[in-house]
Amino acid sequence: MTQVIRSSAELRERVAAWKRSGMLVGVVPTMGALHDGHLSLVRAARAQSDRVIVTIFVNPMQFNNASDLEKYPRDEGHDLSLLEAAGVDVLFAPGVDEVYPQGFATKVSVAGISEPLEGAFRPGHFDGVATVVSKLFGMTQAGRAFFGEKDWQQLQVVRRLTTDLNIPVRVIGCPTIREEDGLAMSSRNVRLSAAERETAPALHAAMQAAAAAMREGTPVAEALDTARAAIAAAGFGTVEYLDLRRAESLAPAEDLSEPVRMLAAIWLGDVRLIDNIAV
Ligand code: PAJ
Repeated sequence: MTQVIRSSAELRERVAAWKRSGMLVGVVPTMGALHDGHLSLVRAARAQSDRVIVTIFVNPMQFNNASDLEKYPRDEGHDLSLLEAAGVDVLFAPGVDEVYPQGFATKVSVAGISEPLEGAFRPGHFDGVATVVSKLFGMTQAGRAFFGEKDWQQLQVVRRLTTDLNIPVRVIGCPTIREEDGLAMSSRNVRLSAAERETAPALHAAMQAAAAAMREGTPVAEALDTARAAIAAAGFGTVEYLDLRRAESLAPAEDLSEPVRMLAAIWLGDVRLIDNIAV
């Protein structure tokens, strides 16, 4: 049975009891509308912890666009049935007032790593993420936390804040889960029309082709230009970024001499897709 908890005081008691009996607690923070990507994190958490908490909170502070927040898919009943089947112990689903009570005045802001890419196109987004993740770590007191590589920059931001704020949690990154045609699973994919859904995998295909070309010696800028042209030809809208970056610092990368990551954010209709791959 998955227990649904909405108050952080109640959650704290539950977790304290687990810890008294020596159990290792894992947490998977999410915004709900769960899919197999989220469930892969739950499986990792189950394998590496004694008790698993999944949090569902659509965090207003990280949305830089009111209509994106409003249109964000929500279906707690369905999510709960998936979590039951996955053997999750607690679903922590607090309301906005529980997370941001009257008088709330603190912001966690991670300089540097939050600034390029998503940070440049979604001002304030990572302050919202860093603040809520810090709070979720405080509320759940988990020893392990599971995040997807799908949101690569977010994973680096979370690692940084955990180190910087001495939060006693081990952050574990888990690989991106994709549809059979290569599209990275995302809660926002349900907003794609049938035609857009057919176009969508072309993003990952173009990125893979560019990565292969780079590995075979094509200059980075040329391979990225070819990918941008393929993406435009496939019918996507604006490419906000398609870049090669150093995997951890996200500083620009001109060659493959160090671990690098290709990252993209691109519009398809009125849905913004992000993806990233190792090169
Ligand atoms: P959300 O988009 O719901 O994602 C929750 C977690 O699932 C994140 O760690 C994300 O990287 C991971 N995830 C999403 N799609 C995935 C996929 N296809 N494969 C593997 N993992 C995937 O990310 C957030 O929520 C929020 O920013 C949050 C961290 C909960 C803070 O509000």
